[in-house]
Amino acid sequence: SDNNHATAIDPNSAISHIAIYGAGIMGSGIAQVAAQSGYKVTLWDLTQTDIDRGLHAIRRSLSKPAQKTEKSADQTADAILARISTTTDQLQACASADLVIEAIVESLSVKQDLFVRLAAVAKPSCIFATNTSSLLITDIAANLCAARKKRMVALHFFNPVVRMKLVEVAYMDGVTDPQLLPLLKAWVCDIGKVPVLCRDTPGFIVNRLLVPYNIEARQLVERGDATIEDVDTAMKLGAGYPMGPFELMDMTGLDTGYRIMKAWYENAPGLAGDPRFKPSPAMEAMIANGHLGRKSGQGYYKYTK
Ligand code: NAI
Repeated sequence: SDNNHATAIDPNSAISHIAIYGAGIMGSGIAQVAAQSGYKVTLWDLTQTDIDRGLHAIRRSLSKPAQKTEKSADQTADAILARISTTTDQLQACASADLVIEAIVESLSVKQDLFVRLAAVAKPSCIFATNTSSLLITDIAANLCAARKKRMVALHFFNPVVRMKLVEVAYMDGVTDPQLLPLLKAWVCDIGKVPVLCRDTPGFIVNRLLVPYNIEARQLVERGDATIEDVDTAMKLGAGYPMGPFELMDMTGLDTGYRIMKAWYENAPGLAGDPRFKPSPAMEAMIANGHLGRKSGQGYYKYTK
């Protein structure tokens, strides 16, 4: 019965094996920090080429001593890498996982389909987490049964994962089992990060505040009220921010911010149709010209590699 099923799951059962879907920028970083903290990781991606690119990024990062966490300080790169196994077999990857972290492309239907497939094979106790930046957990979980929804959250990491200390732990109010939250907060602390809790709301905390702020900064410059350099200087020296909005947008990538705005403008509850989130022609032109920020060598500023 449903009851037996519920009691069979120990809410405090330890997380030891983590399956990570997506070996891209975020997935490879999450795999690295989890492995550095002693967790067994299975990293999945579509092709071996995607996996190799992710492993290459991890190896390069591990070769920089400054990126090591306290826990991993006296571990060799090989010892850390030995905890990460890889596969392109989507179902096998999560067969024995206690926690799934999804970090594949930011597409609702692709994420929905992945979780439906995983739900057929994962342990009943497995926790499902999405690293989505702009979508709702509720929408990603829409096609799952009640028992799976109960064990679904967002674990939202920040780029670059190895350096950024925050993880937003987001839950579906009245749906996600509240007993999962202390367990996940403890896990986030264990991998050397700081958790914050948030309900399932577009952009959670950080992006919900940052995206409108970035938009205001851009509009101020587009209107000709101030220069990019002066806005950045103003926010650093006047608001105490470590970086100005244009420096930050160049670092996170203009395409990333653009995709979040577009998704919200089209779909987000309470935000859809809000003219603030309508991507500006100036921003679209920059992206079309490949001015994506640091990663492309030019954004609001020019960078020499
Ligand atoms: P990425 O493009 O580096 O990696 C995405 C991975 O998904 C790739 O390795 C790709 O092979 C795989 N993939 C592509 N199409 C797929 C499909 N149809 N089915 C399954 N896998 C597929 O992207 P990134 O930046 O790592 O983002 C991943 C997730 O993390 C997205 O949901 C994004 O919104 C979120 N995120 C991104 C942040 C960032 O600053 N880049 C910050 C926080 C969250």
